[in-house]
Amino acid sequence: MASSTLLLILSSLLLFCSSFCSAASPHALVLPVKKDAATLQYVTRVYQRTPPVLLELVVDLGGRYLWVDCDAGYVSSTYRPARCRSAQCSLANSFSCGDCSAAPRPGCNNNTCGLAPENLFIRTSTFGELAGDVLSLASTDGSNPGALATDPRFLFSCAPTFLLKGLAKGAKGMAGLGRNKVGVPSQLAAAFSFHRKFALCLSSSTSSDGVMFFGDGPYRFLGTLNLDASQSLSYTPLLINPVSTAGTYVQGEKSVEYFIEVKSIRINGNSVPLNKTLLSIDKDGVGGTKISTVTPYTTLQTSIYRAVTNAFAAALAGVRRVPPVAPFGLCFDPSSIGSTRVGPAVPQIDLVLPSQNVYWRIFGANSMVQVRDKVLCLGFVDGGAEPRTSIVIGGYQLEDNLLQFDLATSRLGFSSSLLFRQTTCANFNFTSSS
Ligand SMILES: *[C@@H]1O[C@H](CO)[C@@H](O)[C@H](O)[C@H]1NC(C)=O
Ligand SMILES: *[C@@H]1O[C@H](CO)[C@@H](O)[C@H](O)[C@H]1NC(C)=O
Ligand SMILES: *[C@@H]1O[C@H](CO)[C@@H](O)[C@H](O)[C@H]1NC(C)=O
Repeated sequence: MASSTLLLILSSLLLFCSSFCSAASPHALVLPVKKDAATLQYVTRVYQRTPPVLLELVVDLGGRYLWVDCDAGYVSSTYRPARCRSAQCSLANSFSCGDCSAAPRPGCNNNTCGLAPENLFIRTSTFGELAGDVLSLASTDGSNPGALATDPRFLFSCAPTFLLKGLAKGAKGMAGLGRNKVGVPSQLAAAFSFHRKFALCLSSSTSSDGVMFFGDGPYRFLGTLNLDASQSLSYTPLLINPVSTAGTYVQGEKSVEYFIEVKSIRINGNSVPLNKTLLSIDKDGVGGTKISTVTPYTTLQTSIYRAVTNAFAAALAGVRRVPPVAPFGLCFDPSSIGSTRVGPAVPQIDLVLPSQNVYWRIFGANSMVQVRDKVLCLGFVDGGAEPRTSIVIGGYQLEDNLLQFDLATSRLGFSSSLLFRQTTCANFNFTSSS
């Protein structure tokens, strides 16, 4: 191409941009996250395609990429399948190439590479075409949503309609926030040139949205303190599990999930006796602790579960027990349990982390589940004798805590309960400032 033509194209692009690309380089982006009452899944909403469609997607912190149902009514003038051996295929770590015998449409094209979209709720993964399309979400200054920011070629996997089974009503796919290059956080950071950081703040309420930020803070929450939650975090390293934890994966693929090292568990300050071998990740990728948004309650390997529930019951010995209600194994009559700003007044559970004096403290609001009027249960679940991962910190324990994942430094920042700071994850001001 002649250089004058190139210049012409460049300058018209610039002209186009100065009038339309108002959020061309936002500092950060923001999305709402709703807790679905029926499934306890966390659901976000983004715009995709041309013309844009508002899509509901289940948030999967440990998922590898975004996938959507392309079989039912996918219409978009900007859909682009990824050609075999293209840069997109290698970015997505996809080495499978194929043709499609039916009529061409989104999800069915010849000479395209594919991924293995996965639905953890029905433990199913399948084949789906890798493609790019326009994705839009609100920019933010940390206080309010602003202008829409648009990634013209956001990569995702198509999936057949049956993969939606078990997802929250209305959801059309899942948004994987894993630490790989086509995970939602890395793609957005690359498209808008901001820090490879994101933050998750799940609401405990099914009627008011929590929030997810891509990029750095401030992350502001309304309340008496007008808290910037990015300024009050404790930190612990994120670990890489050397063996993929996904349902279908390529030999040698690492896990994209977020693991941390829990050294011990304390209840009211006393260490619970645990088999320490279970707390580290072995060479086969078994053991250790991960964080999950698709597990509603923290799940513990059986011996850990027993030790924790026994110690918790002993620390609450004065309170009347009631028959347990599944999936929980330890329940109390709440009438003799007081209440505090951070939930029922019960023993504190600390996940002790490797750095000195750093621990993740779990208060009553995150440890106790009100199952019925007269039944208050410890919100931990027995994960069986030989689970892949010994401790899976689930959604209920994450609610009203802000978690910041820094992929560049491999570090987790966590706030502990925002209730202490007189706010909640439902207090981001979603009123647009523009
Ligand atoms: C793929 O190529 C085959 C053989 O040329 C053709 O019959 C088929 O219609 C094509 N499929 C798509 C989706 O383009
Ligand atoms: C601790 O856990 C490891 C891994 O599951 C197991 O091999 C070992 O037997 C356990 N030790 C005890 C004392 O139970
Ligand atoms: C929320 O943000 C809007 C837009 O900036 C502002 O007008 C409003 O006062 C804010 N709400 C509260 C409760 O501060």
